[in-house]
Amino acid sequence: MKIAIVGATGAVGRMMIEVLEEYGLAIDTLVLFASSRSAGTVLMYKGKPLIVQELRTDSFQSEHFDIALFSAGGSISEAYAPLAAQAKTLVIDNSSTFRQDLDKALVVPEINFQAIASARNYIIANPNCSTIQSVLAIKPLLETYKVERVDYAPYQAVSGAGHKGIDDLLRGEKGEPPLNFPYPIVHNVIPQIDQPLDNLYTKEEMKMVWETQKILGLEHLPVSATCVRVPVLNSHSIDIRLEFDRPVDREEVIALYEKAEGVRCIDDIKNLIYPMPIEANGHDQVLVGRIRVDVFNPKILHVFCVGDNLRKGAAANAVQIADRLIKADFIGKW
Ligand code: A2P
Repeated sequence: MKIAIVGATGAVGRMMIEVLEEYGLAIDTLVLFASSRSAGTVLMYKGKPLIVQELRTDSFQSEHFDIALFSAGGSISEAYAPLAAQAKTLVIDNSSTFRQDLDKALVVPEINFQAIASARNYIIANPNCSTIQSVLAIKPLLETYKVERVDYAPYQAVSGAGHKGIDDLLRGEKGEPPLNFPYPIVHNVIPQIDQPLDNLYTKEEMKMVWETQKILGLEHLPVSATCVRVPVLNSHSIDIRLEFDRPVDREEVIALYEKAEGVRCIDDIKNLIYPMPIEANGHDQVLVGRIRVDVFNPKILHVFCVGDNLRKGAAANAVQIADRLIKADFIGKW
């Protein structure tokens, strides 16, 4: 199996290398691409040095790759992912470029892996980081309850903005001004992630709306989000408010989480046990807790959910898709 990572020097790209190694995918050759700025950089994979190469328009024509994991931003995906797909390289793309395309699958493997087989497209979209952890916290409940509305309040870590976001937090801690965010992130929260749209939601917020509907296969589900950047290095925390068609039973919800894949329920506030970024960092399971039925409306459930945005929110989800495709012997079959 020959695999490429595009954007290998980025926060997600570096995590992809780490997760590929951890998951033990049967890789014969791993090739790392980035821009000319970091061509020649040495990164380690399985204890061996790999030299980062400059991504070029003929990178996928001059050499055949079975799989390419893209995480170099939307414009790079738009320009290069179709070139890779033309060369029959299966692209797993971490940008938002292809997520809403009707002919492309948007996949969280625990939820809708089968969407890949129906789409049979050489480009598979990896969802938005906050969406991945949220749908993992919602899907198990749909076995028993019909959801009528979802409201998200995400508290998003700076690593979600890549190296530039991490640098701003570290600069701010030293008293230096931000270079990426419009305001200091230290001692502050910023209620804007991504560009504003005509409806006054940000693009990040609408990604959560559209992607939740697509992944859960509920295209008319009312969803809203207010995404806020917080001074946390890594792992997003999301307060999820779910409205169901009938009163919710907390014990039943906990039982559903306990048998769900990809989710771990830690819920015991009286003993100070609840999800937090420091608990989620470095793990691929999404943590859920603070589970309670609304005081005023028994059909409303509140869940607090935390996930490592660089791992399950990006790199690990992409690697898990690749891993399942390899194990299902899908590679090169369409
Ligand atoms: P580079 O290190 O050469 O800038 P992050 O989101 O953490 O900032 O990472 C973005 C990733 O996308 C980096 O690996 C970056 O590489 C890569 N990238 C940015 N522009 C290009 C480009 N024109 N061609 C290939 N990779 C790019």
